[in-house]
Order: sequence, then structure tokens, then C-alpha cells
Amino acid sequence: MPAKKKPAKLHPDLAEVLLTDTQIKRRVKSLAREIKAVYGDGEFTIISLINGAVMFTSDLMREIDNPVRLDCIRVSSYGTKTKSIGTPQIIHSLTLDIARRHVLLIDDILDTGKTLKLVKELVLKLKPASLRTCVLLDKKARREVDLEADFVGFEIPDKFVVGYGLDFAERYRNLRGIGVLKPEKQVAGAWATG
Ligand code: IMP
Ligand code: MG
Repeated sequence: MPAKKKPAKLHPDLAEVLLTDTQIKRRVKSLAREIKAVYGDGEFTIISLINGAVMFTSDLMREIDNPVRLDCIRVSSYGTKTKSIGTPQIIHSLTLDIARRHVLLIDDILDTGKTLKLVKELVLKLKPASLRTCVLLDKKARREVDLEADFVGFEIPDKFVVGYGLDFAERYRNLRGIGVLKPEKQVAGAWATG
């Protein structure tokens, strides 16, 4: 008899797992189908907001067989805070020409909405043929600007989450699933002492 698959171990810094890697994989596949239904077989340009959207972008684009181009934008991060403060800033901008191109903007999570709004405005100034947005996670409860994404992986509660690209102070991006970080770990240097 084949051995039963052991449940994935909970990372000690997580209070709970919100999404397992299997759930994410399944949703990424169905999101790709939703995207494909809109773009057909045509070419489009993916703009990924790094670092957070790295894993999501790489998994999602491999589920899409359209001809795609990839570029990245880096926006200022939280540092060691769990709430966004002030106005986000673009630290590294595009290198590809996106005028008259169909553009899909990808981010890890839509929180207050300030980051995606800022990047949308920047991209629109470059006169793309179309612009759509895709986020893996949506924390609707925290929205501060009037903005919804065109494609959403999962709606999640107002909790600080890490894993699958999402970080706290640059840590936990490499967790396979997504979980809620324990409150005592949500302070600068909490992990330095173990
Ligand atoms: P917004 O500008 O408030 O929508 O914030 C979006 C950015 O904040 C995302 O791209 C994430 O990098 C980060 N962020 C928001 N919520 C979380 C979270 O729960 N965990 C990790 N990063 C988050
Ligand atoms: Mg981010």
C-alpha cells in the first residue's frame, strides 16, 4: 500500500496556514484559463511588481501559452512594518516599450490599493492598447482607494500574511504556502533571536 501523504508541517512562525501550495497551484491554473479567455491567443506584455509577485508571476505565466513579454517594476516596500505607510514610490521602472501593447499588471496582494493605483497611472501614461490587473490575493477590507483588480486569485481576511513571494522584512518569501504570521513575529528583528 502506498504511504499516505503527510500533511505539510506548519512553519513555527506562522499562526495558521491560509492557503496550501496545492490550493495555490489549482487556483493559478484556473486564473490562467480566465486570463486566456479574455486575451484569446494574442500577445500581451506582463508587468510584474517585484519582489512580491515573483513566484506568482513565474507560475502563472507558465500556465499561459500565449506569446508574452515580461517586464518588472519595483515599488518601495513596507520595510519592517506590516501596515503600508505614506505613498509608495517607484524605485525601478520599465525597460520595455509598452505603447500600443496589451498589458497585464501582476501583483501579489491588493491591500490599500495605493501601489497598484500608482503603477496603473504610470503605465497608462505610456499609452498601452489595454491595461488589466491581476492579483493573487485581495484584502478588500483595507481598501483606501477606489480600485478593483480584473483578475483575483483569492479574497482573504485582514491579516498579515507571508509566503509564496510575500514577505515580512524580506523573510518568508520562500514558503510554499501562504500563512498568517504570528503577532510576536511582526516586529523588527523578532526573528534575529530565533
Ligand atoms: P497597498 O499599496 O496597500 O495595496 O499594498 C500593496 C503591497 O503591500 C503589496 O504589493 C505587498 O507587497 C504589501 N502587502 C500588503 N499586505 C501584505 C501582507 O499581508 N503581507 C505581505 N505584504 C503585504
Ligand atoms: Mg509587493
